[in-house]
Amino acid sequence: MLRTSERFGALPAYPLAGMKEIRRRIEAEGVDVIDLGTGDAQLDPPPAVVERLRSVAGELAYSRYGFQAGLPEFREAVAAWMQRRFGVRVDPLTEVLPLIGSKEGLAHLPFAYVGPGDAAVIPDPGYQAYFGGVTFAGGEPHLVRLAPEHDFLIPLEDLPSGVARRARILYLNYPNNPTTAVAPDDYYVGAIRFCAERGAILANDHAYSELAFDGYRPRSVLELEGAREVAVEFHSFSKTYNMTGWRLGWAVGSAEIVAALAKVKTFVDTGQYLGIQAAGVAALGSWETWVPGNVATFQRRRDAAVAAFRRAGFAVTCPKATMYLWIPVPRGEPSETFARRALEQEGVIVLPGASLGRGGEGYFRVALTVPEGRLEEAARRLARLP
Ligand SMILES: Cc1ncc(COP(=O)(O)O)c(C=O)c1O
Repeated sequence: MLRTSERFGALPAYPLAGMKEIRRRIEAEGVDVIDLGTGDAQLDPPPAVVERLRSVAGELAYSRYGFQAGLPEFREAVAAWMQRRFGVRVDPLTEVLPLIGSKEGLAHLPFAYVGPGDAAVIPDPGYQAYFGGVTFAGGEPHLVRLAPEHDFLIPLEDLPSGVARRARILYLNYPNNPTTAVAPDDYYVGAIRFCAERGAILANDHAYSELAFDGYRPRSVLELEGAREVAVEFHSFSKTYNMTGWRLGWAVGSAEIVAALAKVKTFVDTGQYLGIQAAGVAALGSWETWVPGNVATFQRRRDAAVAAFRRAGFAVTCPKATMYLWIPVPRGEPSETFARRALEQEGVIVLPGASLGRGGEGYFRVALTVPEGRLEEAARRLARLP
């Protein structure tokens, strides 16, 4: 067997590996599996996006390397949207960077700022890219459990002083995957101060900024005083526009951080296909007209799923945002055992909280990726689990 690197060895085993085989087996036996595992909705992207990609697909100008500069119209459309949506003015050339999905940006950021001896503060449970990036950069991922008693926020004042001193990046993600928690402004104000005092970066993962309900409108960290010096925010087309597979996002914020991330990427990738960036311009152009309908779809699913899971006996908090429910596993059963039984015995795929980090133990996540009727059917089936 070939020897792998120490950093590679620090990665946890791939979660849910055995689940695929169980799914294959029971589907072959004729079970109608309901998949609420991955946050990948079975919904179409905006028609204007598909149309735009079609219209440029044959054009040579879009076929060539995008490099980190990418499509100038994309940067401009992002800057214009940041202004429309958040009232934040950014320079498209120096404060915006196209990404091949926000995940790669989140994972590549530590390569510029974190090395051996440095720490990064990471929510647990949390999106894998934070842990992966920090680990590959040779830094110390300091995982902090997102606990209900802290409203699923990272209590910055409780960080060990040795970690706080060495922290180079603080990853935050609100609205949060998987807990669905949102953060008040004063929490972000404290986080900006925390970073400013230590020369750390606030990496704000805003993948769910637009999937918010009941009139709630998450703000950009860049709206807050002092953020321009310390923060970089990551945005994604994946959830807002049902474009998960298109791999498009952007980083926005401090010109210094954006330039450093662009330099890292220069040594790793050559930019997203310009045709997809052109499609991204169309997506941002359809934000006012198309996104509200998409959000309404998720809100209907949320309402149906919350009611159905409550009827089924689960203690569900109604989320203000994201496309998930974060539900305590009944009777203290380990989340992986529960998820395995849910699939084997009832043909329902849910994500065990522990697969997103030890801090997620005790919960399972339901993704609102299927229509109301299927969500209700899934809740009914899970109620039958002994
Ligand atoms: C918290 C969080 N951040 C980032 C992403 C990644 O989005 P993208 O598809 O833009 O890489 C996701 C996707 O599931 C997510 O849940």
